[in-house]
Amino acid sequence: MSALTTAEVSRLDPYAFLAVLGKRVIHPGGKASTDRLLQWAALRDGERVLDIGCGVATTAVRLAQEADVQVVAADISPLMRERAERNVHAAGVSDRVRVDEADILYLPYDDDAFDCVFAEAVTMFVDRHRAAQELARVCRPGGRVLATEFYWREPPTPEARQIFLGEVCPGLRFDSIAEWVDIYGGAGLTDIRTESGPFAMMTPRGFLTDEGWHAPAVMLRAMTRFAYLRKMAWLMPRMSRAVPYLGYIIVTATKPEQATSGDNA
Ligand SMILES: C[S@@+](CC[C@H](N)C(=O)[O-])C[C@H]1O[C@@H](n2cnc3c(N)ncnc32)[C@H](O)[C@@H]1O
Repeated sequence: MSALTTAEVSRLDPYAFLAVLGKRVIHPGGKASTDRLLQWAALRDGERVLDIGCGVATTAVRLAQEADVQVVAADISPLMRERAERNVHAAGVSDRVRVDEADILYLPYDDDAFDCVFAEAVTMFVDRHRAAQELARVCRPGGRVLATEFYWREPPTPEARQIFLGEVCPGLRFDSIAEWVDIYGGAGLTDIRTESGPFAMMTPRGFLTDEGWHAPAVMLRAMTRFAYLRKMAWLMPRMSRAVPYLGYIIVTATKPEQATSGDNA
């Protein structure tokens, strides 16, 4: 794996930084929200699954281990794809998980190519309406789209909003639960259900729950370079000021057999 310079470490977004430290679950609902998405997905043998914005491929590997499915794990980031490839190989599921380069806004797949499409904590980084339309386009009629997003669980103080959206995750956009439902509904998806909960990923308890036996390795790695420690020292106090207001929402939706709206659905 390529080593990053100190300047590159300082420029990493928080999610790429967590991936570099070896963290495996990198979305606001943590492992519990993935458990729920998997229940909703109810994958059947032989299905084709897309995990777009796969990060280090934690969910993609899990899908291949828990169901007899073929998975495409795709991400725009070379750094994430490099780690995804390594994790897929280490898990021994290279025959069932393929790692692709893809942009959620311009998915390089045919219409109706997948039975099930996952997007955990990706849509919120981009043009959300266009991303939802792409998820719907590549899902077959009758297939499922599943997503995890951020939302403000409590109205944030101006300081918390500025810290999170201005400093920690510049460019991130997220909405109320009703607005997320509108975005997925506007893409032509139906039977939309949501659940929500607090943002626990960056709390000590959430970290231990998500990473399990792997947690000490992540903490040790954070101590192996001054650049990592400095980035942690910048990130953690800011996160802790925003965490009380943040939550996650998970969404499941179905692409109707007969399209109701959306350009390509
Ligand atoms: C918060 S991380 C989530 C990673 C993974 N889904 C998970 O839950 O652990 C966001 C991921 O989305 C990827 N991403 C951001 N913009 C993207 C885009 N336009 N197309 C595809 N992936 C994108 C990032 O590289 C990163 O891996």
